[in-house]
Amino acid sequence: MTLKLIIFYLLALTALNVECKTAYKICVPAQYMKQCEDMLEVPTKSKALLECIPARDRMECLSFVQQRQADFVPVDPEDMYVASKIPNQDFVVFQEYRTDEEPDAEFRYEAVIVVHKDLNINSLDQLKGLKSCHTGVNRNVGYKTAQYHPRRMNCGRIPHSSRKSQYSQLCALCEHPDKCDYPDNFSGYEGALRCLAHNGGEVAFTKVIFVRKFFGLPVGTSPATQSTENPDEFAYLCVDGSKVPIRDKPCSWAARPWQGLIGHNDVLAKLTPLREKIKQLAVAEKIHHVADNIAIKPADYLSKANYTEVIERGHGPPEPIVRLCVTSNVAVAKCRAMSVFAFSRDIRPKLDCVQEPTEDDCLKSQYNLHPVFHEVYGDTKIPNYAVAVVKKDASFNKLDDLRGRRSCHNSFATFSGLQAPLYLLINKQLIKSDQTSFLVLAFRVLTKPKTIPEVRMSQN
Ligand SMILES: *[C@@H]1O[C@H](CO)[C@@H](O)[C@H](O)[C@H]1NC(C)=O
Ligand SMILES: *[C@@H]1O[C@H](CO)[C@@H](O)[C@H](O)[C@H]1NC(C)=O
Repeated sequence: MTLKLIIFYLLALTALNVECKTAYKICVPAQYMKQCEDMLEVPTKSKALLECIPARDRMECLSFVQQRQADFVPVDPEDMYVASKIPNQDFVVFQEYRTDEEPDAEFRYEAVIVVHKDLNINSLDQLKGLKSCHTGVNRNVGYKTAQYHPRRMNCGRIPHSSRKSQYSQLCALCEHPDKCDYPDNFSGYEGALRCLAHNGGEVAFTKVIFVRKFFGLPVGTSPATQSTENPDEFAYLCVDGSKVPIRDKPCSWAARPWQGLIGHNDVLAKLTPLREKIKQLAVAEKIHHVADNIAIKPADYLSKANYTEVIERGHGPPEPIVRLCVTSNVAVAKCRAMSVFAFSRDIRPKLDCVQEPTEDDCLKSQYNLHPVFHEVYGDTKIPNYAVAVVKKDASFNKLDDLRGRRSCHNSFATFSGLQAPLYLLINKQLIKSDQTSFLVLAFRVLTKPKTIPEVRMSQN
């Protein structure tokens, strides 16, 4: 073969190759970049090309996918909820990460109600006042998805010990009601069933897989096991008030969907090679079982499981809304993103965002302020501390010793230069907050006014 011909063949081959290889961009939080790249090193039969794109977090990934800087991102159902709330998005959920134990299950788990089979009940309203067994307060299935009547609950784990008295009845059916915390034999997914069977509970809220294991029934790919518990004594209680035997197909009333992959609508045009590639990688990397699902909008994906309601359902009585006042469009966008994200993660009360022209307008009617949360920065999550620094041999023993001393500040109206010191001094009652020109007074305490020319601004 002549050299010319060889070159021709080589060129032709390259061209062919490029044509076959479709490239996709997977977005991952920057901290997982290394794992992502390592994963893509793994050889697969599929020649589809994947590239890892780093973002700050999955929220930024969603925005990258929306703007086509990336093609898809692995997410939790809560992220799908956030995705569904982004304006003008065209997201689709196109693949699921399932467990090896239940590769054919439609949902990650299903929330069910279990009762004694002879319990005299034919509607969910009659659950009111029954002794109920839950996994724990604020756990999805056991509590949130089960808020028909949280008045007489069993053993629900209380996250903060200070709340025990508030929820004392929740702890009544615990193995250790005084402790009311994990580990407790009558709390958790299986504990709720033990509470029902052996601790006087009348109704248990848990998930199907634990019911089947508790009663020794087969689960997915796992065979039946020995159990001393008798499934024939119990039944699932359905939303319509009917009962279904434990050995039959359960009736659930909400489910937690699988984790999955969200892409933009354009990936649908070249979906098959992508799905193939991901499956092969999953097998090679022993990632959970990957299943194709009919490409579906995130909101619809969640509604199949009634999961939107699970996220949006409150914790009982109507909750107040906390309004965050901000002064710029960027801050409003950030606030709104944070609000939806926090809500999806069960953080309550709900955060609302209001915009005012200036911080003074924000503060105007609300001087009785309390810290709600604060930001942290960087990998080490450093809070934004304001500190006071003095010479090592300075003879100050208390704050009041600073009175009349010369101080140095960064610029006027900054957090560490003005707001934090003022807050501290007012709080320690070293200066009064109700004096009309308190900024100036504060600066008399803190500094010789001349050193901060802008102080004059605040005199009106
Ligand atoms: C839970 O209860 C069972 C018997 O009902 C007992 O054998 C077991 O030790 C208990 N576990 C704990 C952690 O107390
Ligand atoms: C969703 O709710 C309906 C009725 O409220 C119920 O029949 C259905 O089983 C629920 N879906 C799931 C997946 O639990």
